[in-house]
Amino acid sequence: MKVFKTVGLLQKKLMSIDKNRSIGFVPTMGALHKGHLSIVKKAKKENELVVVSVFVNPTQFDKADDLKSYPVTVDNDLKLLKEIHCDIVFIPSVEDVYPENVQSSNFDFDGLDKVMEGAFRDGHFDGVGTVVKRLFEIVEPTRAYFGEKDFQQLQVIKKMVKKDNIAVQIVPCEIYRENDGLAMSSRNTRLSEEQREEAPLIHQTLLNVKKLFSERDIKYLKKMVEDIFKSNDILELEYFEIANTSTLLSTNNKLPNINYRAFIAVFAGKVRLIDNIALN
Ligand code: PAF
Repeated sequence: MKVFKTVGLLQKKLMSIDKNRSIGFVPTMGALHKGHLSIVKKAKKENELVVVSVFVNPTQFDKADDLKSYPVTVDNDLKLLKEIHCDIVFIPSVEDVYPENVQSSNFDFDGLDKVMEGAFRDGHFDGVGTVVKRLFEIVEPTRAYFGEKDFQQLQVIKKMVKKDNIAVQIVPCEIYRENDGLAMSSRNTRLSEEQREEAPLIHQTLLNVKKLFSERDIKYLKKMVEDIFKSNDILELEYFEIANTSTLLSTNNKLPNINYRAFIAVFAGKVRLIDNIALN
């Protein structure tokens, strides 16, 4: 496994590689867990060479505190990636990714960025779009892999790739869960013992919604979820939405032939956890 810390050195290496070889790219913000590793393994199966980036992108954090407390575990990340025979790890500096100023570009994601995560995290998706586009320009991957835990991010990136005609195939990867159902996330390491014990309620609630989806209306399901979290002292609901899978617009009326997904964001103290599930 080779580790590169500058754009120049990485590009020199990539230029020396046969152009016909497929490159799988897994962008991450580090603090890697089994979910990330399963994505890297998938990318390894589907490509001749795999590049993983580890970069905590400042422009996608709307709160300085959240950025400051984002876990950084580079030595452990490298150890884990080496164990699964990752080919290349790219750990750039902020100056290398943002040579001019540390600022997002403005994107038009046709409204996909205005709801849910976008409504609660100002400028988040412009930050994600900016860094992912820059990383795509540097790595020029054949395929790029994104987890469905951040389903809205996945849709936003697909939109950017389509609109900007970027020659990369976006590969969605299923949510990887702990045995008790909690979606794996780098943020889980910041949960207290008590919060960690309570956190599986998020996935259990989504499973319950899925079970009831065909027989109950959406208003009923929303109220049910709100009540579950109102009566919980440890987890605080930020939003719960049932939305059209492709437009991400939330709805109170189910229409035939539309795929719906439930989306949830919950605070456990200062730790923000998100999850989602396909409903039909
Ligand atoms: O999902 C993430 O970890 C980040 O949003 C990404 C895609 C690496 C961009 O910083």
